[in-house]
Amino acid sequence: MSKIDEITREKWILGAFPEWGTWLNEEIDQEIVKPNTVAMWWLGCTGIWIKTEKNTNIAVDLWFGNGKRTQKNKYMDEYHQMRNMTGGRMTQPNLRAAPVVYDPFGVTKVDAVLSTHYHNDHIDPFFASAVMKNCSPDVPFIGPLESVKKWLGYGIPRERCIIVKPGDTVKIGDVEIVVLDSFDRTCLVTADKPLAGICPTDMDEKAVNYLFKTPGGNIYHSGDSHYSVYYAKHGKDHHIDVALGSYGENPVGNQDKMTSVDILRMAEALQTDVVIPFHYDVWTNFKADPGEILMLYNYKKHVLNYKFRPFIWEVGGKFTYPDDREKLQYHYRRGFEDCFTDEPNVPYRSVL
Ligand SMILES: [Fe+2]
Repeated sequence: MSKIDEITREKWILGAFPEWGTWLNEEIDQEIVKPNTVAMWWLGCTGIWIKTEKNTNIAVDLWFGNGKRTQKNKYMDEYHQMRNMTGGRMTQPNLRAAPVVYDPFGVTKVDAVLSTHYHNDHIDPFFASAVMKNCSPDVPFIGPLESVKKWLGYGIPRERCIIVKPGDTVKIGDVEIVVLDSFDRTCLVTADKPLAGICPTDMDEKAVNYLFKTPGGNIYHSGDSHYSVYYAKHGKDHHIDVALGSYGENPVGNQDKMTSVDILRMAEALQTDVVIPFHYDVWTNFKADPGEILMLYNYKKHVLNYKFRPFIWEVGGKFTYPDDREKLQYHYRRGFEDCFTDEPNVPYRSVL
């Protein structure tokens, strides 16, 4: 049989996806976190992996799905949250723009699985399934009520789930998780019913923010929160070292992601040391240039006497706090550190 006959679509998919294979799984597994530091990796969208000096591993908002893959459905469902928010009917062209950099079925150890809210890009059945099969039988699934309902729907046993709301704290290894208010107004209007004249009061059941207090620093994960003046209260109540905020270029008619101005205002209000935008990587129709945040930061930092720094990350990259606190931009490892270990195999040196 010729190679052409043997090649199938299934072989291509299994051979090419996930794009990074287990490269990042291996990196996370092998990382030894130095005392008084905390390591984190960006797994795309708002997915963050946190690892501490005592080898506590926390997975927040990991998601391994994708967006639109066909143009066959012309319209959004009647009560889709983006239809509720915008009044538009046409299917939004939200195609996944970032690669999948982690193999969920390659997970070996995790101590807690968290979700900020139950929208599909913040909770994941593949990872949940792999954790149930590969990891310790006591790993908790922690989230607001609606996220827990989703896990239960996947088949996660009720005793493995912890429903949290603002004000709660959960201890996982050497990490204390403080549950805080979400400001995700898109989540608030996610409902399968007419909402005109109704004031929803169930935000705490739908979405939360988290503060992870680790021996290496405190990480504030704001899920899909919009800008809120209440960030200032969170900043007064808690010491925050690294704040993560959902940034994006909102299509006309949308107010869903924070803008560059909002990210700077959020950082200032939270009194964080470092602010990192995320989520802008993943949807084609909300794609944004994080360089805009850096540009605006440089324009305003002196007059407003900013005490924080922005950090512009890349999906699949690692950030260690406080070691990387003065870096402004991430770059992937470039390799070839061992160049000229051997004599290059070229005709003569002057060709180099
Ligand atoms: Fe999202």
